Amino acid sequence: MIALACDHGGFELMGFVKSYLDENGLLYRDFGTHSDESCDYPDFAALAGRCIADGECDRGILICGTGIGMSIAANKIPGIRAALCSDPFSAEMTRRHNDANVICLGARVLAAGAALKLIKIFLSTGFESGGRHSQRVRKLDELDGLAELH
Ligand code: RB5
Repeated sequence: MIALACDHGGFELMGFVKSYLDENGLLYRDFGTHSDESCDYPDFAALAGRCIADGECDRGILICGTGIGMSIAANKIPGIRAALCSDPFSAEMTRRHNDANVICLGARVLAAGAALKLIKIFLSTGFESGGRHSQRVRKLDELDGLAELH
């Protein structure tokens, strides 16, 4: 289950993202916002991020104008590893090396086609677990006070 959230800046792009997920049979929960009326991105990042941190959703796609506000907000939630991506290499590597569970996108940075390409990579790439990358992700969890999980 994928958690979706956007602010007004990301609302239009999120429509394309939902169509893409629907076409590919990928399930999601849409935490809003649901219009292009001005709103505050931390409110929506919190809803989606908590759902992932609670284990109800596995991954998240967060969109605002730049993706920056969403990534700052999401990374304040323990257990969230949110990566702001604007290129395919970063989208792949943040899964392989960081085990990122959230991708943040900037609707004013990326064309829709480019954003969907990053989402496809993010959702289809696995984590290289078991070695040095697992150790580093464990240390990220320690920073979150989640060391007891391991
Ligand atoms: C909204 O105008 C804009 O500030 C927001 O979408 C985002 O880019 C913040 O990081």
